[in-house]
Amino acid sequence: MSGPASRARVVLVGPPGAGKSTVGQVLARLLAVELLDTDDAVERREGRTISDIFIEDGEPHFRALEHAEVLRALAEHDGVVALGGGAVEHPDTREALLTVPVVYLEVSMAKALPRVGLSGARPLLVESPRARWKALMDSRRPLYQEVAGLVVDTDTEPVERLATLVAEALERGDLRPRSEA
Ligand code: S3P
Repeated sequence: MSGPASRARVVLVGPPGAGKSTVGQVLARLLAVELLDTDDAVERREGRTISDIFIEDGEPHFRALEHAEVLRALAEHDGVVALGGGAVEHPDTREALLTVPVVYLEVSMAKALPRVGLSGARPLLVESPRARWKALMDSRRPLYQEVAGLVVDTDTEPVERLATLVAEALERGDLRPRSEA
């Protein structure tokens, strides 16, 4: 069963370092809408950083906040939505994503980790980033593939080109909610 239809025009998923926010900004400009990044939305609502939420309340609490934020974004944000890399792990989030066009931004570890850097902004990748990133991708890759109606390769394509590909797929009607497929 899928929930109520989304207002969001398109959702970007993928691991940390895939460029969801960067591509999302360019895509939003092409579509003349706004980008909502669910990581930023959680931080604004909580008045603290994701790292602080992880440290103070633990990952399960962050995941609950993130899930609520994603549902709100899908229902209310009439634009582009970029999801945090782990949002697809929540089965109800995956179900909610049935009602909106979803793009999976693929990226290799070699490209992703330098983009992510070693800052504390991604608490899951602070320790042993290579091993952690690989483990996350082994479990999440099938989930990203499951929710996506379009997969794009961010290793080889520049940001403007990726955003244009997505905008054109939407325009042609090739990228539709899976509930309508
Ligand atoms: C996470 C990814 C982060 C953020 C949090 C957890 C993850 O978002 O939601 O640090 O589990 O992969 P980005 O994918 O935007 O880095």
